[in-house]
Amino acid sequence: MRLIRVDLPSDLERVALVFLSDLHLGDPLHIGPAADKAVGWIAASPERRAILGGDLLNYATKNSKSDGTKDLTIEEQYRMAQSVLGPILGQVLVALPGNHEFRATRDNQLCPAFALADKLGIPYAADGVYIHLSFGKRSTGGGKQHYTIYATHGWGSGKTSGGKLNNLESMTRRVNADIYLMGHGHDPQQFDWDVLDYDPYHQKNVWRQKIGLMSGAWLDWGGYAERMGYPPAAIRLRYVECAAREKSMAIQTYQKRLRD
Ligand SMILES: [Fe+2]
Ligand SMILES: [Fe+2]
Repeated sequence: MRLIRVDLPSDLERVALVFLSDLHLGDPLHIGPAADKAVGWIAASPERRAILGGDLLNYATKNSKSDGTKDLTIEEQYRMAQSVLGPILGQVLVALPGNHEFRATRDNQLCPAFALADKLGIPYAADGVYIHLSFGKRSTGGGKQHYTIYATHGWGSGKTSGGKLNNLESMTRRVNADIYLMGHGHDPQQFDWDVLDYDPYHQKNVWRQKIGLMSGAWLDWGGYAERMGYPPAAIRLRYVECAAREKSMAIQTYQKRLRD
């Protein structure tokens, strides 16, 4: 786990966090125009930030479950990633690898997500990342607003939404944070809770909000997923909007149609 601190300008009224994962660049099923729309949306405002959540490259090998024979070469995938991320380079907080990049780490000891992050000047976290985010101006006290985020690529091979939501919720048993982000499930899932806490400084109970969001994928249905009975990936751009004045988070969905 890597801890990083992100200090953004005090004139931001809100920050929208996108967990951009599971693009699977190089897979013939990757939906390029949809991913380009998502990246374009992030690039359009300085209030928007992205965490690269892994499975950015497909990186199918001879021994992997997905068939890589129709994929772009690894070199082409690597170059494609640089071009896709070009418009949002200054807005990416950190890059995580997914299990697809981890295939390369296992085989060659060089993770392509690390190589890409290093090339693009983006912080890299091999397993998971804890982010302390500060920005804007609180309505009381005048200081910046603070949020904590825990993110990792994700795990599990279940086919049901319930199983994926369980995985997302189980992050709260490992780490205490305001926001939990994961991908891998190719199925947007979420939770939004209030948890009772105690503030010893003011000697009173306080309610703390906790939000969890699993990102979707940028893949059409077919191949291994179809053969093995996995549901189609929902093509959605969901993000967590964090307010500056009052500490408050909301899961939002970009309303425009991304598929086609
Ligand atoms: Fe994936
Ligand atoms: Fe994955």
